[in-house]
Amino acid sequence: MIEPIKWKDGKIVFIDQTKLPAKLKYVTCKDIDILYEAIKKLRIRGAPLIGVAVGLGYALACLNSKEKTCAGLKKDLAKASQKLRAARPTAVNLFWAIERMENKFNTLSRVNTSLIKRAILKEALAILEEDKNMCVAIGKNGAKLIKNGDVILTHCNAGILATAGQGTALSIIYEAKKQGKRFKVYADETRPLMQGSRLTMWELMQNNIDATLICDSMAASVIKNKGVTKIIVGADRIAANGDAANKIGTYGLAVLARHHGIPFYIAAPSSTIDKNIKSGKSIPIEERKAEEIIYAGSKQTAPIHAKVYNPAFDVTPHSLISGIITEKGIYEIKRFRRI
Ligand code: MRU
Repeated sequence: MIEPIKWKDGKIVFIDQTKLPAKLKYVTCKDIDILYEAIKKLRIRGAPLIGVAVGLGYALACLNSKEKTCAGLKKDLAKASQKLRAARPTAVNLFWAIERMENKFNTLSRVNTSLIKRAILKEALAILEEDKNMCVAIGKNGAKLIKNGDVILTHCNAGILATAGQGTALSIIYEAKKQGKRFKVYADETRPLMQGSRLTMWELMQNNIDATLICDSMAASVIKNKGVTKIIVGADRIAANGDAANKIGTYGLAVLARHHGIPFYIAAPSSTIDKNIKSGKSIPIEERKAEEIIYAGSKQTAPIHAKVYNPAFDVTPHSLISGIITEKGIYEIKRFRRI
């Protein structure tokens, strides 16, 4: 299985996802300025992968610090955290990972700086390893829902490329395939940055999944005419009441699922649940540059000065979600109980 991120010889090595599917390009990252740019520009993307990346970024900043005292190191790390926190606003995994690293640092205040560095790196690598296990657990839990003959629709990329392991929504597909189940997948292309066509189709084809690419605008008619039986997507942040933010277009799919009487599932690790946020109304939604819509790659597809609205995510109300599949089990939100 490809590794979208790894720690190698004291540096972070990641796949530049903006180059896929044309090129599988690995970038070696020596400082957090490169990492910040990579997250902002979606070279590294997907909520769990962003969490893993900032954990490693915090460790990199710690190892790179020239400070000889714990207080000095703390100042350097506070600057690094501030920078990484500003990279993207919606995926709560970013803030979860930074807080976990900061908490670890705070438990080490009486230790010398070389021991701190060792312990901080160990914590970042633990986040990476836990992410791999979490993906398998989500896959195994979700695969119980997959039946022979299912036709599954997915959106954006919640796969290998969005995590340090085998994905969340797509992990369910990989586990179901391992179990010998027969099913088909439709992947939305996911305008405007095409995570569905560039990334999901690429990895599903690499893993021999029967997958068909569609434009986002085809989803309604594909659900109706091609017998879609389930929609499974990932999430960037889930509020305490179960409202879930995910790639723009997800909410529309949930509405379609309700209209057609098919289940709509969110697959995400428990680190994507933000208990501090009561409902989806308070989830910060990233707005991105107009150029992402005015151009498709380098081709201009709208007037240069067109007024553009470009939210990267939308929020699906919990009332439209049939279940949230986590590494701990499947939760039916309406009644807040495990199914
Ligand atoms: O803008 P992106 O590509 O980072 O958005 C990613 C998504 O919306 C994914 O569905 C989500 O992060 C879940 S990934 C397991």
